[in-house]
Amino acid sequence: MDKIVIEGGHRLKGAVRVSGAKNAALPILCSSLLVRGASVFHNVPKLNDITTMGRLLERLGCVVTPGRAFRVDATGVEQFEAPYELVKTMRASVLVLGPLLARLGRARVSLPGGCAIGARPIDQHLKGLEALGAKLQLVHGYVEARAKRLRGARIVCDVPTVTGTENLMMAAALAKGVTVIENAACEPEIEDLGRVLEKMGARLSGVGTKVIEIEGVDELRPIEHTIIPDRIEAGTLMVAAAITRGDVLVEGCVPEHLEAVIAKLRAAGAEVDLEATGVRVRVRGELRGVDITTQPHPGFPTDMQAQFMVLAAAASGQSVLTETIFENRYMHVQELARMGADIHVDGRTAIVRGGTRLAGATVMATDLRASASLVLAGLVASGKTEILRVYHLDRGYDQLEKKLRSLGAVARRVRPRKSAA
Ligand code: EPZ
Repeated sequence: MDKIVIEGGHRLKGAVRVSGAKNAALPILCSSLLVRGASVFHNVPKLNDITTMGRLLERLGCVVTPGRAFRVDATGVEQFEAPYELVKTMRASVLVLGPLLARLGRARVSLPGGCAIGARPIDQHLKGLEALGAKLQLVHGYVEARAKRLRGARIVCDVPTVTGTENLMMAAALAKGVTVIENAACEPEIEDLGRVLEKMGARLSGVGTKVIEIEGVDELRPIEHTIIPDRIEAGTLMVAAAITRGDVLVEGCVPEHLEAVIAKLRAAGAEVDLEATGVRVRVRGELRGVDITTQPHPGFPTDMQAQFMVLAAAASGQSVLTETIFENRYMHVQELARMGADIHVDGRTAIVRGGTRLAGATVMATDLRASASLVLAGLVASGKTEILRVYHLDRGYDQLEKKLRSLGAVARRVRPRKSAA
């Protein structure tokens, strides 16, 4: 397993371009299942999760040609099973459920099970699909779903679920009649999926708001689309600039997708300027602690909580972080504490007392954003930090250490020596 070794204490300077958004690319690749034909996607990030999704689409009968123009030909789709061994490595596989039901009238998808950050049930996905007329059974850890033809319905989600909203949008696009999704999630990645479905010929309104209306059509057509930039990678790079008291232009990101993050960076004392090609982050004075409560978009994103915990540790004063989305998203705390961070967790709340200089250590990644926080901590810690199990990082970041190195970080990936045998 690879590890990343970082020598802390170097200010980041220069410009870096963000990659395409993982959480837009995953549902959008699944939407190609809705179409008899080949769709082409640009700005698809090179990530392990994207590779896994490509393998799943191939298992279902698609011809997948990864590359700068990522092509998915779903003409020959006739398989309808997403097996456990793929779903357990990537929960977003559950996003094939809606499209398969809409396209084939059948789907057999392994329940994803829990993950490091929480139970992550999919009851809202299933409730919505049943409202659209699907007959569902849970058999040996799989969802068995059938529907002659999905029919439009009014669905009220108990919680604004991102992939739940996406699954239901894709299912409703080919349903007979009109579907209204209430308490829908509003993330920018959902808006990007909405643009793809519209290009395919679906009729949607309200995407990006809490009420989405979809008028189903009989057939959708193949399209070409460029994926939006990754706002969480952009936010991670902005935090890296701030905590190293650097001066970095994060290019290609969309400031409107990051309003809550930018507001908190400014509250912490960073200068954040919107420039023609991106967002510039500078810190010349001291960073001060900020209070964060994660919320569904447009609130402060849960996917940025671990990164801001490092900023809180590097800042002076106290910060209170409250994680309202996932019940166990503090796996990074113990590892940061081993580096000297002063963090007290009480249920969903973490109190961080800043002002201590972190010390390099060997630490272990546990989940995607936790591993990003350990990389950030390594940038500001004294001495050397080794981050193990960086396969977690590679699921959601396209060569993060290379991007940081281009900004002046001393960071390198170490691959295990192949055993002589
Ligand atoms: C998406 O996960 C993202 N993943 C996550 O990003 C992100 O953290 C999350 O949305 C919240 O923004 C992708 O888009 C692939 P949810 P998702 O359904 O859709 C509860 C990353 O780091 N819930 O919006 O799985 C759930 O338990 C990943 O890139 C139900 O109760 O999240 C959670 O408390 C991590 N029942 C809350 O809703 C359901 O049926 C939000 O979950 C579905 C969700």
